[in-house]
Amino acid sequence: MNLKQIFPERKDIAANYAVKRVDQKEYLVNGEIRIWNGQTHEIVSPICVRDGDKLERQVIGSTPLVGEKEALEALDAAVKAWDLGRGEWPAKSVEDRIACVQKFVVGMQTKRDEIVNLLMWEIGKSYKDSCKEFDRTIQYIVETIDALKELDRVSSRFQIVDGIVAQIRRSPYGTVLCMGPFNYPLNETFTTLIPALIMGNTVIFKPAKYGVLLNRPLLELFRDCFPKGVVNSLYGDGKVIIGPLMKSGKIDVLAFIGSAKTANIIEKQHPYPNRLRTILGLNAKNPAIILEDADLSVAVKEAVTGSLSYNGQRCTALKILFVHRKIVDRFLEEFSKAVDALKLGMPWDEDVSITPLPEEGKTEWLKSMVDDALAKGAKIVNKGGEICETLYKPAVIYPVTPDMVLYNEEQFGPIVPVVQFDRDEEIIEYAAHSTYGQQASVFGKDPIRVSRLVDALVNQVCRVNINCQCQRGPDVFPFTGRKDSAEGTLSVSDALRAFSIRTIAAAKATDQNKELIRNILKNRNSSFINTDFIL
Ligand code: G3H
Repeated sequence: MNLKQIFPERKDIAANYAVKRVDQKEYLVNGEIRIWNGQTHEIVSPICVRDGDKLERQVIGSTPLVGEKEALEALDAAVKAWDLGRGEWPAKSVEDRIACVQKFVVGMQTKRDEIVNLLMWEIGKSYKDSCKEFDRTIQYIVETIDALKELDRVSSRFQIVDGIVAQIRRSPYGTVLCMGPFNYPLNETFTTLIPALIMGNTVIFKPAKYGVLLNRPLLELFRDCFPKGVVNSLYGDGKVIIGPLMKSGKIDVLAFIGSAKTANIIEKQHPYPNRLRTILGLNAKNPAIILEDADLSVAVKEAVTGSLSYNGQRCTALKILFVHRKIVDRFLEEFSKAVDALKLGMPWDEDVSITPLPEEGKTEWLKSMVDDALAKGAKIVNKGGEICETLYKPAVIYPVTPDMVLYNEEQFGPIVPVVQFDRDEEIIEYAAHSTYGQQASVFGKDPIRVSRLVDALVNQVCRVNINCQCQRGPDVFPFTGRKDSAEGTLSVSDALRAFSIRTIAAAKATDQNKELIRNILKNRNSSFINTDFIL
């Protein structure tokens, strides 16, 4: 099919998936929805509409491009709400903070349709995956609340060691800057924002580069569920607004999911590096290793979803396949067939797999990587590589060799580089010399061979998946990476730890001190020293 024909005419878009232009002027600072009348940024959808022979990317709205002054006002609001750790929010009991988040999550559920539709239009994610992203985020918040209850229960007791009586709890750091990625603009922003908040920090969040409008339906909820200044949203050009925040030295934690290059630029702007805590989710080039005894149907199925779900735009995607020489031809035949069978379409099309790409100039950039490989002797072995505006038909590239850009660089798109290998050692060397270290997948049946690879790879990456694709979930599992892939660990419970620090109130267990502590407990004088148990 001609790729152009895949884009719809306006009349083809069902009313329930149509988008109404939103010119957002609002942003949230210091508990107020403020109106911005300055410069704005046009939100251009990756979805093109066809008019005769013409294709046009749809402009679906605009968002504020605030400046340094507004950024510093948001910072001021967050710092005031923290108030040297004595603000209303950090001083609230855990139970009260949980109640605020619970109120938020109930309200958020009423915004599902609106947010899911914006996910489709802003980042081209399929309807099914957009629903999944929303529902997974809700589940993450609910699980976070449960995990915090459990953490708090454990901290609600005293320990007496060597004549010292102590209570150990986790305390917030201060003001957190949260920045999420475009591929999971809701989920990955919230997997840092919610834990940061619920632990008692105050937050400034900047929506991802794409997937901006979808935060609009939540602004009033943030305003109504949390004390003023606790949540502040900033819309604008990162280069203009993030620098001043960091240079102020008042950001205590940077939670950033995106490229290592950007993370480094942001981090370096902070004048007190030892004071800044960083939680980073960065680039990855997760390899799949397909051994000659692998169950080919399993390997093909997992490699297809692993490398191409959401067009390969997942940090956990399989970004390079190492296939044993003895089975590479058979694998390529079946894999190419499966890739060619993937349906290209609009996000709302039934059973769609490959959808338009949101990043400006992305299809040309993908083409340049493929051209580099072709010039160095590789071929497109399936019926892929065709481009039409924002659509890129998935390309399987073989044989990929170390001199090609695709061998090391993260493509973050629908290209699957395949490398032929003979010795397992080659893969271990690849992983060891890679600048990334997130995950790997191993496909095979021989317990000795699989074990050897697992044992070697666990010291290079942070998750080795056996006979399945790489993935972050279930969200209770630790999600992290080595080298340029991550800093800090996220999971439902690890995130609570990442945004807080263990703190102790301790006293020599003298009669006088015991009496003092007894009185504090009896009169409920302290929110830290108490034995309240959340039921
Ligand atoms: O982009 C990175 C995401 O955290 C990946 O999550 O493996 O569940 O798609 P996922």
